[in-house]
Amino acid sequence: MSGYRFVRSSLPGQNAAPIGLFDSGLGGLTVLRELYRQLPYESVIYFGDTARLPYGDRTPAQILQYVREILGWMEQQGTKMVVMACNTSSALALEAVRSEFDLPILGLILPGARAAVQQGRRIGVIATPATASSQAYSRAIAEIDATTQVWEVGCPEFVPLIEGNRLNDPYIGAIAQVYLEPLIEQQVDTLIYGCTHYPYLAPILRQLLPSSVKLVDPAVSVVAAAAQELDLLALKNLRPPAPTRFCVSGSPQTFSQLATSWLGCTPVVEQVIPAQTVQPAALEPVD
Ligand code: DGL
Repeated sequence: MSGYRFVRSSLPGQNAAPIGLFDSGLGGLTVLRELYRQLPYESVIYFGDTARLPYGDRTPAQILQYVREILGWMEQQGTKMVVMACNTSSALALEAVRSEFDLPILGLILPGARAAVQQGRRIGVIATPATASSQAYSRAIAEIDATTQVWEVGCPEFVPLIEGNRLNDPYIGAIAQVYLEPLIEQQVDTLIYGCTHYPYLAPILRQLLPSSVKLVDPAVSVVAAAAQELDLLALKNLRPPAPTRFCVSGSPQTFSQLATSWLGCTPVVEQVIPAQTVQPAALEPVD
């Protein structure tokens, strides 16, 4: 389902191990909420790379390096699976890192593309600049159904506004109108949230879009794919889950304050800095 091909049998005690979820910041909480809904028995370690956001303005090489560091850290924490709760990482790094780590890693692009193709034929994608320029959604959708049309729009201002706690600032509505205009002109029938921060904007986007446009949140399908993988690998947790562990690379206080309204409680947040991992060149086979 997720496009992930990983076969191994579960080790004793692995079922109770946490699922790792990461994003640059608050966006992954929209995936976490979906995980709580679909997989309530799973324990979770959440990492937000808040010291280095927004990822959407970073180069592909930087994003790949950050993802390698985070996955190395997740592996050290004993996670049994990692869900990239970040489209930018999924678009720019998933294919490269999948074979580098000995654990199942799921990304948002393919599950999101599959869900969108079931909804419409004229698909708009709003995403970070890095995700939009990668054209990852256009390619994934073309592979599923080459007759479906796709328009991707980079929205550089959304993530800094959301992380800056400016969801109620009228400016966010004005800038959303600018980003949506080309998609409305093309009469899209479906819109993918191509960044996990964007479901926070649902009320604003709903107001601006024709009511017939269907909104697709890839979080729903990536968590469904994770559930299937856990079943296939016999890795589902059968005991009560541990409390979610929240970690960030920036300020724990800021993250805790901003996350409160979305989570409905104030999380305890630790600061961690995933260590530098080996450079890509060191992973190449030596003659
Ligand atoms: N929420 C992430 C995504 O889905 C990253 C946003 C950012 O840091 O630019 O792409």
